[in-house]
Amino acid sequence: MKAISRGLAYALLASAAPVIAAADMPRLVTDHGRHALLVDGAPFLMLGAQVNNSSAWPAALPKIWPTIDRLDANTLEVPIAWEQIEPREGQFDFSFLDQLLAEAKAHDVRLVLLWFGTWKNTAPGYAPSWVKLDNKRFPRMIDDKGQAAYALSPFAQTTLDADRAAFVRLMTHLKGADPDHRVIMMQVENETGTYGVPRDHSPAAERAFEAPVPAEIVRRLGVHGGSWASVFGADADEQFHAWAIARYVDAVAAAGKAVMPLPMYVNAALADPFKTQDPKSYAAGGPTHQVLAMWKAAAPHIDAIGPDIYKSDFAIYMKYLDLYGRPDNALFVPETGNATAYARHFFAVVGRGGIGFSPFGMDQTGYFNFPLGAAKLDAETIEAFAANYRLFRPMQRVWAKLAYQGHVWGVSEPTAPEAEHRQVMALGRWRATATFGQGQFGIDPPTGNPTPSGGVAIAELGPDEYLVTGYHARVTFDLPAPKAGEHMIIDRVEEGHFDTQGQWVFERVWNGDQTDYGLNFTSVPQLLKVKLATYR
Ligand code: DGJ
Repeated sequence: MKAISRGLAYALLASAAPVIAAADMPRLVTDHGRHALLVDGAPFLMLGAQVNNSSAWPAALPKIWPTIDRLDANTLEVPIAWEQIEPREGQFDFSFLDQLLAEAKAHDVRLVLLWFGTWKNTAPGYAPSWVKLDNKRFPRMIDDKGQAAYALSPFAQTTLDADRAAFVRLMTHLKGADPDHRVIMMQVENETGTYGVPRDHSPAAERAFEAPVPAEIVRRLGVHGGSWASVFGADADEQFHAWAIARYVDAVAAAGKAVMPLPMYVNAALADPFKTQDPKSYAAGGPTHQVLAMWKAAAPHIDAIGPDIYKSDFAIYMKYLDLYGRPDNALFVPETGNATAYARHFFAVVGRGGIGFSPFGMDQTGYFNFPLGAAKLDAETIEAFAANYRLFRPMQRVWAKLAYQGHVWGVSEPTAPEAEHRQVMALGRWRATATFGQGQFGIDPPTGNPTPSGGVAIAELGPDEYLVTGYHARVTFDLPAPKAGEHMIIDRVEEGHFDTQGQWVFERVWNGDQTDYGLNFTSVPQLLKVKLATYR
């Protein structure tokens, strides 16, 4: 039942602060299907924010920091565009990156850099003009009617060579400019795939499509060998396109890692998680859920594949988390909508042991990607996300370590029929139930909060002991399978916080009305240590 050893929890908490030198290379590690991003040698929970696409310029930085400071984010995701660092072939300019590194340090945030190269939302918009306008040297994909498509061909060696060379220069510059690893992860390309054209039909692509599926892919996927059509049937075009893009992206990542082995991930423009769609209607070939296995097989230098989630609907959001959070893939939401409806899903992400969460468009440059995100990034909207980060930032190391070495759970408030304003977490011997929109005595049925805003996160600290927190929710515990005559009792509930060394600091004991009818979380950030027991 418990992966965490009994009594280990306090040792974990005591050692939660980083002890290894700051120059440790960030790493993504996996153990027993659980994951951790190690930063300065210890698990780190990314409380992230991504800026708007055109905000990666010195002039925009003053419009970024006030929002990031207000959010209490510990990680900022910023594009580094190929067109910006190599406007003329072979001439590089890293002045923005240098300024970003210095300012990120001053604002005490880590960075994730997003390499906008051959693909940005599938298109070559961020490739330099000398690339995107030279169809001869850097050819576009050919569609099934022989026409040039908008996206660059993943079969063009010249394009791969040029993209890879620029990425290597970026990593080389970073290696010199960032010895302390303010940059903790690299995103390689942005939302790859192609809309409307499920695969390339260029001569090189046709030759590859006629050839057998490469042996290492056959081996890694555990399928029988043969032609693409015979191995993948109706999905052959899409699987082939996924392979072609994944191996291209992998080559870029591998070359970058050879310079500096930072963790590298890709982000996904998502397909419908419930319905089978025509591949022309989504970014086919990108790391959508249908082709995750192919991406894993074809891009072994990519450490994680993250979903960009722009649907706040509960069932859809949870499905994406389940599809992308796997024993072989760390859950990381590199982009999500910045409307308030998305903020509560932070609890579902951290409760699944996710390594990071990042609303998109978090700056005051005046652009709002509504209806994907908020219509306006006002104080109230920022606060919906800031509340979560304020609650978790002091214990992000503790939480990340518990998630890696033990058990964590988390739920967000459903957007569902009345009967479902309740979420159950099976903790093993115990069961926790979160309800939303219910009076503090828990007498009336839960009706949901006026707008879905509740979330609960629980971590196992040791035998019968849990860290419990949340907003706008009630939490009750019960013993689903009591032994004869056995009754549960709450032994002790402490409210407190973790200090900078990861040590628990006691503030007060909750008892009486505060525990007799369940634990009530409001908009006040409160962290509880709950000890459960039984009597006969
Ligand atoms: C997903 C992309 O990855 C982002 O760069 C951005 O274009 C959003 N979509 C939409 O605002």
